[in-house]
Amino acid sequence: MKSIYIETYGCQMNVADSELMLGVLARDGYVRAATPDDADVMLVNTCAVRENAEQRVIGRMGELQRHKRAGSILGVVGCMAQRLGPILLERVPAVDLVVGPDGYRNLPELLAHARAGERRAEVEYRSWEHYEDIPQLREPGPTAFVTVQRGCDYRCTFCIVPTTRGPERSRQLHDVVGEIAALVHTGISEVTLLGQTVNSYHDGSHGFGDLLRAVGAVDGVRRIRFTSPYPTDFTPEVIEAMATTPAVCEHVHLPVQSGSNSVLKRMLRRYTRERYLEVLEQLRTAMPSITVSTDIIAGFPGETEAEFAETVSLVTDAAFDDAYTFKYSVREGTPAERLKGHVADDVASERLARLIAVVRAQTRRHNMRRVGEVHEALIERPAKRGDLMLARTRQNYLVLVDVPASAVGEYRMVRFTGTTGSTFTGSIEHPALAVL
Ligand code: SAH
Ligand code: F3S
Repeated sequence: MKSIYIETYGCQMNVADSELMLGVLARDGYVRAATPDDADVMLVNTCAVRENAEQRVIGRMGELQRHKRAGSILGVVGCMAQRLGPILLERVPAVDLVVGPDGYRNLPELLAHARAGERRAEVEYRSWEHYEDIPQLREPGPTAFVTVQRGCDYRCTFCIVPTTRGPERSRQLHDVVGEIAALVHTGISEVTLLGQTVNSYHDGSHGFGDLLRAVGAVDGVRRIRFTSPYPTDFTPEVIEAMATTPAVCEHVHLPVQSGSNSVLKRMLRRYTRERYLEVLEQLRTAMPSITVSTDIIAGFPGETEAEFAETVSLVTDAAFDDAYTFKYSVREGTPAERLKGHVADDVASERLARLIAVVRAQTRRHNMRRVGEVHEALIERPAKRGDLMLARTRQNYLVLVDVPASAVGEYRMVRFTGTTGSTFTGSIEHPALAVL
């Protein structure tokens, strides 16, 4: 029997794609290897969004090649594979195979070629590809990522994703619903719908609001999350569907990127600071307990200190509950590469550090206020350290609880007893004592 070891970097869609590759290879008789040590095939599923993500992968490949033995194969897949293609084969001699996100269906034959000594880069775009017939081989657990849209048609000037993942396309609503109905039978009660601009989902006859309602109507689906939406795709219909579908969780991750209108314009984001805040207002009116997280880039080309100050003030004005912050990283071939006034690295680093401090302090303040609250939490998995279990609330708070491992998949009422600033500790509430 052949064995496959796969390592995943980057976003949730990559996690889902790795499960898909395991599905493709399982059909071809492969079994999963837990370590690279004696795997016949090692795949690294990569991210290309920032330079440091790529550097990490290059470093890791140096380590993995030491596990290579006669006949075993090292492959690079994912966004960096798509971006660099044959260049990767040239630069990293230990790499036998390069496959972009639209080429996973052909992995068995590509691996056969690689085994015959032929080094190939498979980076063709297939805008029809949804892998509809290939079941993902998911980690056991109560939650699942479900890709509903691939690619991106937006053209944010900093972003490599439209190049690495090709044009936007949505799966048919009934295919998505069918998959989720089957997942429920395997014990899954929470699904996260994935797409680069997921709320622009449209299958020709149904929009994202229809999708939320249809998934919410699947028996056994207790929670729906989605990532990442685009601000201006939150139409009144979508917001209405969120508010009236009980399974839709009270959390939204809504990337803003910058709080300065001039920077947003240079980024080719299709909204202003004011419009973004208006969308948040609409979401909060429709779902009063919704929490909001975001993505922010510091040091975009031409960003002045005054423009950066507007981003800092937006953190407070938008009352974000959390934010993922990044230093701008120039991506070859993107429009932003050619913009004037690239910000010096030390200036960008210093801004990022200030931004992180503001975000952390605000998250901590928000979370301290929540200590004492009682929330429904889904027990997901053992926590990394100790013997506590990790649970998640509808508002996307992580809470450590002392329940047996057999409680995975159960919903419990949990009282927040403390916070590190980002995660919580909690105690199980006796059902009769639970107050919401
Ligand atoms: N729409 C996608 C965005 C993918 S990239 C989504 O699903 O979220 C994820 C985040 O990485 C972006 O929101 C942005 O904040 C950040 N990012 C993308 N390109 C970047 C770059 N060139 N430099 C720094 N951060 C970047
Ligand atoms: Fe990238 Fe903008 Fe699409 S951030 S993934 S081009 S919406």
